[in-house]
Amino acid sequence: MKYLFTGLALFTCSVMAHASEDKLVIAHRGASGYLPEHTLPAKAMAYAQGADYLEQDVVMTRDDQLVVLHDHFLDRVTDVAQQFPNRHRADGRYYAIDFTLAEIRQLHFTEGFHLEGKKQVQNYPGRFPMNRSEFRVHTLAEELEFIQGLNHSTGKNIGIYTEIKSPWFHRKEGKDISKAVLITLKQYGYTKPTDKAWLQCFDYDELQRIKQTLEPQLGMDLKRVQLIAYTKDNETQTLQNGHWRNYDYDWMMTPEGIEKLSKTVDGIGPDYHMLIDAQSTLGHIRLTPMVTAAHRYKLPIHPYTVRSDQLPNYVSNVDELYQVLYQQADVPGLFTDFPDKAVSWLARHPQAE
Ligand code: G3P
Ligand code: CA
Repeated sequence: MKYLFTGLALFTCSVMAHASEDKLVIAHRGASGYLPEHTLPAKAMAYAQGADYLEQDVVMTRDDQLVVLHDHFLDRVTDVAQQFPNRHRADGRYYAIDFTLAEIRQLHFTEGFHLEGKKQVQNYPGRFPMNRSEFRVHTLAEELEFIQGLNHSTGKNIGIYTEIKSPWFHRKEGKDISKAVLITLKQYGYTKPTDKAWLQCFDYDELQRIKQTLEPQLGMDLKRVQLIAYTKDNETQTLQNGHWRNYDYDWMMTPEGIEKLSKTVDGIGPDYHMLIDAQSTLGHIRLTPMVTAAHRYKLPIHPYTVRSDQLPNYVSNVDELYQVLYQQADVPGLFTDFPDKAVSWLARHPQAE
């Protein structure tokens, strides 16, 4: 049986669907290796390729709307600098929170780029060409309706994997993004741990607030995932004695930290490089104590992000990386920009299930 998705192509879902209950394919920003990240066409493609879960990164607009965007900036993936040249802050960045939803809907969305001087340079040259075709930003509610609509029309039950982006930043701006995201998820029927939904965040304190305060208030109890970043990357800020400081993630990479996380969250999302010993070489791959500890404390690991066009030097192709993570590290799921390749690897390696 075939389905036409947003004019992209015909896909045979029954053939491509990934039937496993165990090893999950999480489409990172959709099938972002093929189409501009987080656009609805990228989500449709990931869905058709057989992903088990589709990821939504969420930020808030000036008028308190939730939009699906990875950055709380607009300038990496849109023409905001051309359409609103005077609306950047002192740091030169264009913040989604300074724009209304109506303004953001006017922007043309593109494959991600960076500037070299005034020249736009595509971050992943082999991917969908930048500034081609027509893509737009959409809301979280629109994406949930899109996925639920596909679930209805295909008879499948593909899940959502929603990330609350930078709650500390939204708090500084006077907004409670976590509460708004939870209310929207509840509105669309995601409330229980048995629902096909994971809630992810890099902010440990915010995840605990969600668990202990917000979800009880709203009658919710979703599966919560602690995302883990390198401290040096300044991913999260935390308020200490009245001052905002860079959050120190180092404790999460120790066996003791993993034990603590096993009691406070339902899963962890580390950068996959954290699972592989830095001395690993082709054919000689060793795992870090983080992996052993997570298995010991039965804490599911969903590492990010497998990209076939950005491989570490200890593998020679993406299949080897799927093997290292799904089989050697025995992770129950992973984020990938290329869901079709993960689905294909799992289909060829049933013993890894
Ligand atoms: O949420 C998992 C992974 O997406 C985390 O990295 O920066 O792509 O959101 P990022
Ligand atoms: Ca994410």
